[in-house]
Amino acid sequence: MKNAKMCLGISYVMSKTKVLLLGAGFIADIHIESYKRFVPEAVLVGIYSRTEQRAMETARRHGIEKYYSDWKKAILDSDCEVVDICLPNFLHCQAACFAAEHGKHVIIEKPLCLNMDEADLMIETCCKYGRKLMYAEELCFAPKYERVRKTIKEGAVGKIFQLRQCEKHSGPHSAWFYDIEQSGGGALMDMGCHAFGWFRWMLDRAKVTSVYATMRTLYHIGRTKAEDNSVAIAEFEDGTIGIAENSWAKQGGMDDRIEVYGNEGVVYADLFTGNSALTYSQKGYGYAMEKAGSTQGWSFTIFEEAFNQGYPHELAHFIDCVRNDKQPVSTGEDGRAVLEIMLAAYQSAKTGAKVKLPFRPNVKKPIDLWLND
Ligand SMILES: NC(=O)c1ccc[n+]([C@@H]2O[C@H](COP(=O)([O-])OP(=O)(O)OC[C@H]3O[C@@H](n4cnc5c(N)ncnc54)[C@H](O)[C@@H]3O)[C@@H](O)[C@H]2O)c1
Repeated sequence: MKNAKMCLGISYVMSKTKVLLLGAGFIADIHIESYKRFVPEAVLVGIYSRTEQRAMETARRHGIEKYYSDWKKAILDSDCEVVDICLPNFLHCQAACFAAEHGKHVIIEKPLCLNMDEADLMIETCCKYGRKLMYAEELCFAPKYERVRKTIKEGAVGKIFQLRQCEKHSGPHSAWFYDIEQSGGGALMDMGCHAFGWFRWMLDRAKVTSVYATMRTLYHIGRTKAEDNSVAIAEFEDGTIGIAENSWAKQGGMDDRIEVYGNEGVVYADLFTGNSALTYSQKGYGYAMEKAGSTQGWSFTIFEEAFNQGYPHELAHFIDCVRNDKQPVSTGEDGRAVLEIMLAAYQSAKTGAKVKLPFRPNVKKPIDLWLND
């Protein structure tokens, strides 16, 4: 009996959590690298891509057993326990609900989905079927930003009165981001979610009371109806403000930076240029960092790009939650709160006025509030 128990114990410890990846694009690649290098408790059992060829090639390259070009079949057939959704935004709700209805835990890339009805449906469905839903906000796991948060919790800057988060590059890599029916919005939808997620994380999920925003399409005119440059100010219950600057119009490659201002100090940090080797090259070279315009002249040569942004830590955390029945630190409710702030930002950019929360407009997607009369 003692031996049997020990055997059971060993087999439990050694069994891996089976993950299905929906998507084989940019972020799926980062998730694959993160699972394979940093999450030994997980195994990728299947991958879906729209084209069978890409699904097959990605599966072969990474030793993933099964590949699919039908995402519902992938969920039904792959024997996975976790579905990791790396699909365009408009598919998030249907994929998450289908996965939960079929007994799978769900990790969903940002933004949560396109509207509040979808957000509620995702949360309710995962709850109804007893499945975990993690909203994948990697800034809550990025090692440098977590170091900042710990320092702040130790009282380094006193009482916070202002936060700022800026993310920029010169435009996304795939066509669907520019199609508002698939993305739901532009730079604010794509990146503002990071800012609002990080503000709430820093402020222990404090409530936002109002949002003011302004936005324009500057650089990608003709390619998209979406905004490619935005500034939003979120006001919290205690008067703290969070300033979110998000752009697909700013040149010079990827940048993600934070600033924390308190009555006794200040902290600045960034995830890319400050984590790189400053390089000068006359000829240029292979790869500098995500969306770097050129590698000739001065460039920022990044290393451990996925690790520095917190992806391995985020995925390891969710696998731990699934294996040990813990609550994720970033949930569907967090994704919903972020979406509500973004909806208010689009409304404010339309009207020019501050928008008070709670805010639950009846729209299919956030950018409708800015574009439609
Ligand atoms: N956390 C982050 O910082 C971060 C970074 C990039 C992307 N993302 C998010 O990840 C998700 C995927 O983005 P990505 O950059 O990997 O996109 P991508 O275009 O590189 O890959 C998208 C994947 O979805 C599939 N796909 C595209 N259109 C589809 C359709 N109509 N039907 C079915 N499948 C379709 C493609 O085949 C591909 O496998 C998005 O929600 C995005 O916001 C998050």
